[in-house]
Amino acid sequence: MNIRQLLIERAVAAMAAAGVPEGTNPAVTQSTRAQFGDYQINGAMGAAKALKSNPRELAQKIIDNLDVSDLAHTVEIAGPGFINIHLKPEFLATSLMAANADAKLGVSEHAQPQKVVVDFSSPNLAKEMHVGHLRSTIIGDAVVRALEFRGDSVVRQNHMGDWGTQFGMLIAHLEDLLNQGIDLEKVALADLETFYRDAKKRFDDEEGFADKARDYVVKLQSGDAHCAKLWQLFIDTSVKHSEEVYQKLNVTLKREDIMAESAYNDALAGVIATLQAKGLAKEDQGAQVVFLDELANKDGEPSAFIVQKSGGGFLYATTDLAACDYRSNQLGADRILIFVDARQSLHFSQVELTARKAGFLRDETSYEFCPFGTMMGDDGKPFKTRTGGTVKLADLLEEAVSRATEKLAARESELSAEARAEIARKVGIGAVKYADLSKHRTSDYIFNWDSMLSFEGATAPYLQYAYTRVSSIFRKAGIESAALTGAISIVEPQEKALALKLLQLEEVLDLMIAEATPHVLCGYLYELASLYMSFYEACPVLKDDVAADVRTSRLLLCNLVAKTLATGLDLLGIEVMEQM
Ligand code: ARG
Repeated sequence: MNIRQLLIERAVAAMAAAGVPEGTNPAVTQSTRAQFGDYQINGAMGAAKALKSNPRELAQKIIDNLDVSDLAHTVEIAGPGFINIHLKPEFLATSLMAANADAKLGVSEHAQPQKVVVDFSSPNLAKEMHVGHLRSTIIGDAVVRALEFRGDSVVRQNHMGDWGTQFGMLIAHLEDLLNQGIDLEKVALADLETFYRDAKKRFDDEEGFADKARDYVVKLQSGDAHCAKLWQLFIDTSVKHSEEVYQKLNVTLKREDIMAESAYNDALAGVIATLQAKGLAKEDQGAQVVFLDELANKDGEPSAFIVQKSGGGFLYATTDLAACDYRSNQLGADRILIFVDARQSLHFSQVELTARKAGFLRDETSYEFCPFGTMMGDDGKPFKTRTGGTVKLADLLEEAVSRATEKLAARESELSAEARAEIARKVGIGAVKYADLSKHRTSDYIFNWDSMLSFEGATAPYLQYAYTRVSSIFRKAGIESAALTGAISIVEPQEKALALKLLQLEEVLDLMIAEATPHVLCGYLYELASLYMSFYEACPVLKDDVAADVRTSRLLLCNLVAKTLATGLDLLGIEVMEQM
């Protein structure tokens, strides 16, 4: 069910009949205030300007040709030529019944599913995942879930950084520890941060070690078996660390989704050869460089995109060009979405421009760099530990659960200790995720434990609590929601507001998918929960004096609210519980 889409189709037909040229945007929007109806068609003003006619007269002509008698009871002109549509309660009721009977709550699947490659999470394996990877991981995961819910075919790609020059240093260090007989799992790689620090210290201070490290990179990248074996040992441990985080975060990434930088190694020489053959890459001080006029600075100097180092080594950039080729030409992607920190914007503009010119990206493939802002501490600077170090993601999530446990302990509960621990886990992790996902993707935000764990305001705990309240009605009433039979009728204004919101899930998902912005779904769920609370205050459900058919209708509404909250939160990767 997509009321907006339905109205767009009707509006387009009416505008054509009213003599408006084809392709004019009907500008159908949800009304912001009840007095403006439920939806508005705002396209008359723009069309009148183009036709040099009177906008109110044109609006009237459009209305005369508008066939919405099945949906609307009133259609009226307001102001300079807005067309306000008031939907019929019967239309809302039948649509709600259909949504209630549908496994996807009336959300349709894309008529033409797209193939979407989503590059997200993509940590560097030299170290453990830190807070900087939270956003890429959970924003990407939410968008993936929404795409799949709408029927698109998604290829998850965890573009892990496993191939940079640091790996020479890491495997050289690893080799020495192995020779000393040190237990890898329990000691050497138990803490990757310490391991990295020790290796780096040797690289900087120890005579001969840096040379060995450089030698090992070259050997590794040219397929030396000994180095490959050491490298694999290291990578396996690091991937395991990431997988523990994914599991804690309730993120859908699996091992088979890893398409790391190393996977493109064999394609890199070919990338450079193509760039040279097409005259795109030129030698500059021994390096291979693509000069991009499109990104010239204000002095007119083109932007220099280095694709091969002077020693012959390949770069992060080379790998991203190979990835474009694989995703667009081999996988045949319609869209490529990449969730990376905004600080990499220039890099991805360079990649796209170069890849388009070289034919690594087909015209039909939309390449969408989806940047995100930085997570800040209370001091307004990037989030750090008290001593100024980077915060390990695993530690952050552990703290979230322990803070949630403390918070929940203050509430009365008859639940067992196990059940409470499970609830605390869902609340703690959910709180971190919702706090992040609910901010506009591109803005920086301040990470604050107290506000994200609050039971008031737009937070995961509030929504999880709202869900338990809705579902508790069925326990109180002693009925299984699935056993409800009867019809919905929309009478009270609070019922109408709730009904309309329930029917807008598909519109919200459309927006979230088009712009890769989960915050719109977060906002929607919060509004839905708030409208439910107002409905519940104004419209008794289980009181003795409520007529049986009214009670059934309201229970059906409650049921759809519960399912919508659970589905929406699940699309954000946030778990619900029946009691808390
Ligand atoms: N590993 C990179 C980082 O941690 C992110 C990789 C993003 N994806 C890509 N195709 N470059 O910054």
